[in-house]
Amino acid sequence: MNSISFSRVSVRVAVDGSDTPKTLLHDFSLDLVERRIGVIGANGSGKSTLLRLLNGLVQPGGGTVVVHGDDTVTAVRRVRSNVGFVFTDPLSQLVMPTGREDVELSLRRSIKNSKERAARAEAVLGRFGLLDLADQSIYELSGGERQLLALAAVLAVNPKVLVLDEPSTLLDLRNRELLRRTVAGLDQQVIMSTHDLDLALDMDRVLVVESGRIVFDGDAAAGVARYRALCAAALDELPMGKAPQ
Ligand SMILES: Nc1ncnc2c1ncn2[C@@H]1O[C@H](COP(=O)(O)OP(=O)(O)O)[C@@H](O)[C@H]1O
Ligand SMILES: [Mg+2]
Repeated sequence: MNSISFSRVSVRVAVDGSDTPKTLLHDFSLDLVERRIGVIGANGSGKSTLLRLLNGLVQPGGGTVVVHGDDTVTAVRRVRSNVGFVFTDPLSQLVMPTGREDVELSLRRSIKNSKERAARAEAVLGRFGLLDLADQSIYELSGGERQLLALAAVLAVNPKVLVLDEPSTLLDLRNRELLRRTVAGLDQQVIMSTHDLDLALDMDRVLVVESGRIVFDGDAAAGVARYRALCAAALDELPMGKAPQ
């Protein structure tokens, strides 16, 4: 039950002015049972598409995706309540003027009583060390602080699975480290795409995506090495990309 399984999944989209759809992800099958899973690969390789399959934001064109027992097409509501999704840009996620209001908003469905909701929001914000920032305008916070608030708002409802799409892209070193430690301490199963190879090396399992295909699946150190080799090979094909002799 506590696994994510992709069974013969592919993703295609229609292209304007063309009869043939574009394939974003080629047919693949995977069972993910590890607690920490990293997804790495070049821009446009298909990482976000893969992550979005996990909460039904993208639906498979073929095959099935089952997350902790629920099919992402036939049980999308349950899937969405089990899967917390944190986007790269926290401002696309934080919709309320302050972090506290945002955390309370995400608790609206699960806690009907407003006093209880406020108490739970306080506890969640405290757990992440965010109480001092909770009542400031989100526009006055740094990117890292916003990212942590977005994470707190998603974790407030205690999802079984946490999906993070390049969560450290906007963060400085200190906030990146804070995010890294926060993620390390979570009970949830975490699936994360990242360009941050230190973060990738913390994972129990790494998938390397290249042009819509999973070209490596295994140990983090070997996955990062494969990704570096792919980058080097791609650069060698460019006239300007050759390493200096
Ligand atoms: N809805 C869509 N329609 C057409 N092309 C898309 C759509 N979503 C993503 N793509 C394309 O699919 C490829 C993979 O995108 P994405 O999964 O966002 O890659 P990554 O997250 O690795 O940068 C890219 O070439 C992107 O432009
Ligand atoms: Mg992406």
